[in-house]
Amino acid sequence: MRRVLLILLWTSNLAQPYIPLAGEVQVLPPVNFTLTVSALGQVLLHWKPNPNQEHRNYTIRYDVKILSPVPEEYDTKRTYSIQSAALHNGFSAQLRTLLLHNSLQMSSEWVKEELPPLPGAPETSVTNLSCVTHISISSTVSLHCAWLPGQRAPGDTKYFLFYRYELYTEECQDYIQDKWQRNLECSFSVTHIDPEGLGKLLVIHINGSSKHAAIKPFQQLFDQNAIEKVNVPRNVTATLEQNDLLATWEKPISPLPKECFEYEFHLFNWKSGNKQTFKIPSNNFRSPIDVTSRYSIQVRANHHHICRARGVWSDWSEILSVGQTNLEDPTVWTVTVLCVSTCCAFLLVAIICKLNHVWSKLFPPIPTPSNKFRDLFPSDCERAPTCTSKTETMLSSFTEDLPCSVLDDFVF
Ligand SMILES: *[C@@H]1O[C@H](CO)[C@@H](O)[C@H](O)[C@H]1NC(C)=O
Ligand SMILES: *[C@@H]1O[C@H](CO)[C@@H](O)[C@H](O)[C@H]1NC(C)=O
Ligand SMILES: *[C@@H]1O[C@H](CO)[C@@H](O)[C@H](O)[C@H]1NC(C)=O
Ligand SMILES: *[C@@H]1O[C@H](CO)[C@@H](O)[C@H](O)[C@H]1NC(C)=O
Repeated sequence: MRRVLLILLWTSNLAQPYIPLAGEVQVLPPVNFTLTVSALGQVLLHWKPNPNQEHRNYTIRYDVKILSPVPEEYDTKRTYSIQSAALHNGFSAQLRTLLLHNSLQMSSEWVKEELPPLPGAPETSVTNLSCVTHISISSTVSLHCAWLPGQRAPGDTKYFLFYRYELYTEECQDYIQDKWQRNLECSFSVTHIDPEGLGKLLVIHINGSSKHAAIKPFQQLFDQNAIEKVNVPRNVTATLEQNDLLATWEKPISPLPKECFEYEFHLFNWKSGNKQTFKIPSNNFRSPIDVTSRYSIQVRANHHHICRARGVWSDWSEILSVGQTNLEDPTVWTVTVLCVSTCCAFLLVAIICKLNHVWSKLFPPIPTPSNKFRDLFPSDCERAPTCTSKTETMLSSFTEDLPCSVLDDFVF
């Protein structure tokens, strides 16, 4: 008996709408709930208060629950709400009335509405859409997007891209095509995107046409700050101060102040081949270095999270080199090594020749008695070294074909 009572209590708690509040008040759901596409990737949710709802001194609010594509729940006292969402796979939401009185809160039943998916054959939509924006020196924002055709999009499919930023919508006029003349990239050199906008949405809509199939449109929402490709740091310098390498640079072109950037710094040691990357919150870098080595540096920039969402890292700045010698790249290094070794070989040969010369003077090679002998065999032992000792034979075998006397004159 007691259990039944508990269950009854419990179920009646679940069926909250039917519990009278402060007497016999019923909470009724809103009426005429509609969903309307008000712009690209934007839905207007609109409803009316239930005309039979008692008011007295209750507070009435509405609980909105987005079911798809991205679930979200919030409440409002208005009778409308505007939502941005990718609508190609449809949109659905539900709504109920909330009645608040002192600390008591009651809610009505839900009413549900949905928008159907945008029409088109499956897998004809574009895939792998990516977009980046870029702030120019004149503070205008350019936009570039690229995508792949849907797997089942016929060969004659032509895609069209539109962007919406706040109230402004524009179609792309400047497409890049593949070899089948399908549009696969689009550029806007100037857009209505606010270069100082914070966390605002950029809606991209790509539909298409083909003689053989209905092309299903595709939409994607981007946070404008997250796709902003930061400009390269400017005026990068690198110098040596005693045993320190000192590098400085200016913030990239941007309406943001200098505190809003952070940097990645590449330091390459040509001698050890060691490459280091540092995260740097300021506009300079100082580090003790090996003064006998040459270094190369590069720097790139991104937004600091204290100002706004991370964007896309800038390109790396041009390579700058400092330190010993002018060996800026491995080819120069190779050429130098070759030069030095050639000179060494040349010098060695010259020394050998000179040695031969001195040796033959110190130890006159052929004693006089053998002169007769020599006369008998005039050609063989003409040059002394070959006849005197083993070392000499070895040395002279190096120099056999070299015009030693020329070298002697030249080097010594
Ligand atoms: C709801 O819509 C119907 C039909 O469009 C209309 O007759 C009715 O007046 C509307 N209700 C409210 C409260 O506006
Ligand atoms: C396209 O995206 C899919 C899924 O995100 C990924 O697996 C694939 O590698 C991408 N294709 C290209 C060519 O980038
Ligand atoms: C593509 O979408 C735009 C904007 O919604 C629309 O004006 C245009 O008619 C659509 N084109 C095709 C081929 O569906
Ligand atoms: C970079 O250097 C040039 C020439 O030294 C100078 O005119 C320019 O103002 C500098 N730019 C910045 C951003 O400091």
